[in-house]
Amino acid sequence: MAKSLQTPEPELQKPGVKAPVQETLLTPRFYTTNFDAVAQLDISAHEAQLRAIVDELRADYNRHHFVRDSEFGQSWEQIDGETRRAFIDFLERSCTSEFSGFLLFKELSRKLKERNPLLADAFNFMARDEARHAGFLNKAMGDFNLSLDLGYLTRNRTYTFFPAEWVIYTVYLSEKIGYWRYIIMFRHLEKHPELKFYPLFGYFESWCQDENRHGDFFKALLRSQPQLWNNWKARLWVRFFLLSVFATHTLTVLERASFYRSIGINPYEYNIQVIEKTNETAARAFPVILNTEHPEFFRRLEECSDINLKLTEINDSNSPKIVKFLRKLPLILSIIGHLLRLYFIKPIDAEVSRQAVC
Ligand SMILES: [Fe+2]
Ligand SMILES: [Fe+2]
Repeated sequence: MAKSLQTPEPELQKPGVKAPVQETLLTPRFYTTNFDAVAQLDISAHEAQLRAIVDELRADYNRHHFVRDSEFGQSWEQIDGETRRAFIDFLERSCTSEFSGFLLFKELSRKLKERNPLLADAFNFMARDEARHAGFLNKAMGDFNLSLDLGYLTRNRTYTFFPAEWVIYTVYLSEKIGYWRYIIMFRHLEKHPELKFYPLFGYFESWCQDENRHGDFFKALLRSQPQLWNNWKARLWVRFFLLSVFATHTLTVLERASFYRSIGINPYEYNIQVIEKTNETAARAFPVILNTEHPEFFRRLEECSDINLKLTEINDSNSPKIVKFLRKLPLILSIIGHLLRLYFIKPIDAEVSRQAVC
């Protein structure tokens, strides 16, 4: 087990406005896609199911949920030191990824309005939810005298292009992993209320139901497109995206171990639980899932995280660029080696077991 990093002091863009974290492979990204390809998806085979999910989204069960109650109305100066820095970092990452969902969904709903009204409605309702989530998190940052300038982020962040099929795979996974992340944290704090140092955590139970519904919409969309699950190429892509999402999760959770420890969560156990649950859930949508019970599975992921912490240390050192590069190269190759070996662990066929997984 490697030591975890100290969270740096937040940098300011202007007074009270936090400078966005530097973009790396591990920071939440903003996405754009081939909107024409999404508009042209033939959803007729699963239209009734999709319509039922869109009706659920329209019902807006959490309409009155995201209201700050009186518990928020106090000073939070007692949360200090590493706990405060790590919590602000958690709020910022969560706010950025919720906002990234909002931007993508909003753009999809705008571009599909005329050509695919059912999907446009779905994206519009999901954008509504993500805007609420991001806004609620940004208000929480305000309690710590900071906020994110979301308009500035919209204009200045790099947008990564993903083809429509990749968007369906990755957004499905990020909604479902988001669900498990929030609900596991919520259930833990429900059992240990003395560790709940800020009221936000109490909102996660209904909040994560939004993510669950978003995930269900993407599952129905994915299953309506046989080319996304009924061939060998799809099976290879699915393994790739499952592994990418699980590796990123492991690296980011273990890099921010101090946040999880501040609410009494063992970050290693949390990471394993979130990944196992997400993997099991993915069997309902994907043709294959990963074998997380393989003895090498979490061992190699955690080794990648140890190496990642060493890479961060090198990055933060004062060595000249070339020295940093030469020290980093074998470590990066070693991460790639671990990931390749993880990729080739025999997956589990979900087409035969889907019915058995609840
Ligand atoms: Fe969300
Ligand atoms: Fe969501």
